Amino acid sequence: MAGDKHIDDHSGVETTGHEWDGIRELNNPLPRWWLWTFYICIVWSVGYWVVMPAWPLVSSYTTGVIGYSSRALVATRIDEAKAAQAQYVARIADATLEDVEGDPELLEFALAGGRSAFAVNCSQCHGRGAAGAIGYPNLNDDSWLWGGTLENIAHTITYGVRNGHDEARFGPMPGFLSDQILDRAQIDDVAEYVLSLGGRAEDSAAAERGAAVFAEQCVACHQEGGLGNTELGAPNIADGIWLYGGEREAIVETVMAGRAGVMPTWGDRLSPATIKQLAVYVHALGGGQ
Ligand code: HEC
Ligand code: HEC
Repeated sequence: MAGDKHIDDHSGVETTGHEWDGIRELNNPLPRWWLWTFYICIVWSVGYWVVMPAWPLVSSYTTGVIGYSSRALVATRIDEAKAAQAQYVARIADATLEDVEGDPELLEFALAGGRSAFAVNCSQCHGRGAAGAIGYPNLNDDSWLWGGTLENIAHTITYGVRNGHDEARFGPMPGFLSDQILDRAQIDDVAEYVLSLGGRAEDSAAAERGAAVFAEQCVACHQEGGLGNTELGAPNIADGIWLYGGEREAIVETVMAGRAGVMPTWGDRLSPATIKQLAVYVHALGGGQ
């Protein structure tokens, strides 16, 4: 409601002439500090448009007189980091695995590089801390399917396991029921024997029958006492560390249907220097031999 301007009795300030239900608006000026801040912001923003990338155009943008680009900056930073790393990468490429481990400077670089390459390429299967999961081995312990020396580990990483590559590690765990080598009762017996290796057998007569089955069917790969054979990837089944589970049902399932874990080959995807860093990193996780 527009009314007449007049001087407010209480504050002595002129009103704007606007009135709502008897409430009138005082015409106080903006504080000076506020006004100046506002003007400075306007001036600053005009300068900013000129200097920095600012306005979107149809298919590009105003680039600003200094040509700043955060995208180009990232590329430069990455190039700088690569250049800084190049000398180490070159030295690792030329060194043997033992030399890398023996040189504190290269070792530190390899462990850091190995950790980040592991996070990108390996953690999906082996877990972030390389603790593994069912079917995916824990790489922290000293129970190795294919051997835990630097060379063994580098070979496994380079060629992988059962992936069809000519150099890949290969060794079958047959399905004794599916291949009709054993019947279900013999499999229960041999599972009882496997449990007895960890002191968990409940039926000693069955374990004894199972020992005979084991001697006939399993020692060739798993060795006397189930100690395993890294030439064949046959796990130690007496050490209480299980790839597919150590419960009776899991053992019976393994023996009935067989197992064939597959690990990809990395030799054609990662550089030799990266594979060396990964091997040194895995070797240093705790179980290296
Ligand atoms: C797609 C899943 C997968 C990925 C990705 C993968 N692995 Fe594996 N890895 C496996 C499986 C499965 C095995 C066990 C194979 C077997 O049963 O013998 C294995 C085995 C291994 C072994 C042998 C362990 C032993 O006890 O001898 C090493 C070492 C290893 N992986 C390292 C790596 C590294 C390093 C990477 C990353 C470059 C990687 N793996 C990526 C699935 C994977
Ligand atoms: C030809 C070699 C071979 C024979 C024979 C063999 N195994 Fe295996 N076994 C393997 C291999 C290789 C693996 C690992 C498979 C994998 O990594 O995917 C394995 C895995 C297992 C596992 C799983 C271990 C774990 O850590 O989860 C059990 C249990 C097992 N075998 C028991 C037996 C029993 C019992 C017999 C005899 C009835 C037998 N195996 C015969 C090669 C063999």
